[in-house]
Amino acid sequence: MNFLIVGNWKMNTIPSEGLRIVDKICLHMKSLDISVDILICPPFTHLVVCSELIRHLKSPLRIGAQNCSSESYGAFTGEISAQMLRDLDVEYIIIGHSERRTIFNETNDTIVKKCIQALDAGIIPIVCIGESLQQRDEGQTLAIIKSQIHAICSNEIIVHHEFAHAIIFAYEPIWAIGTGIAAKPEQAEEVHIYIRTLLQEYFPEFYLTIPILYGGSVNEANAKEFFSKKDINGALVGGASLKAESFIEIAKAAYR
Ligand code: PGA
Repeated sequence: MNFLIVGNWKMNTIPSEGLRIVDKICLHMKSLDISVDILICPPFTHLVVCSELIRHLKSPLRIGAQNCSSESYGAFTGEISAQMLRDLDVEYIIIGHSERRTIFNETNDTIVKKCIQALDAGIIPIVCIGESLQQRDEGQTLAIIKSQIHAICSNEIIVHHEFAHAIIFAYEPIWAIGTGIAAKPEQAEEVHIYIRTLLQEYFPEFYLTIPILYGGSVNEANAKEFFSKKDINGALVGGASLKAESFIEIAKAAYR
């Protein structure tokens, strides 16, 4: 499987700034091998212009969204459905990011619904899971991961969905997000191996090809070490994805 490097811009940049970043990434990508997939997830307001620019530049850069509604259509003021995103060439949606779980009170149930919405729209969900510092200190990490994976993978609609094989997981320890304190690659790999073992139970036919990304303070300096681990198949990058040069350096670190 190709490495996947995902830039999560969060609520940063205005569209014109976003376009400048996309332009630079696309320029750098011309000299890169295509064995690494690179994806940016800008705010909703940027999706149309960014995908137009990517198409215009004929770049292999991919585009995703950071969230979608758990409903498909109707009286849900302010919501954006997965179908609407599909119509904008969006190929991926980040679902259940810890900021959505903690700040916007998203539960495993909401995340399951969003995941189904994405799959129904033909969009690849990138489902985020991870423990808080307190949970890690209390030795709860693997139990938390297990319950988050179980919520998604034990859902009948998801397990039997024709696109279930497309789901991506991102292990993002909450204490490592935006703190500058990344997990040690060995710590991350331990959890990734555990996730792979859990996935084997639910998806015995294709668990080996499900990408498991690491996220949490990934930067140019530490990326290579993460990517040297067998079960780390890419990265979900926040802060460092806002600088095209840093983001590209992270992608380059994925070349074997
Ligand atoms: P960070 O964010 O790279 O800034 O830690 C990662 C994320 O929130 O996905």
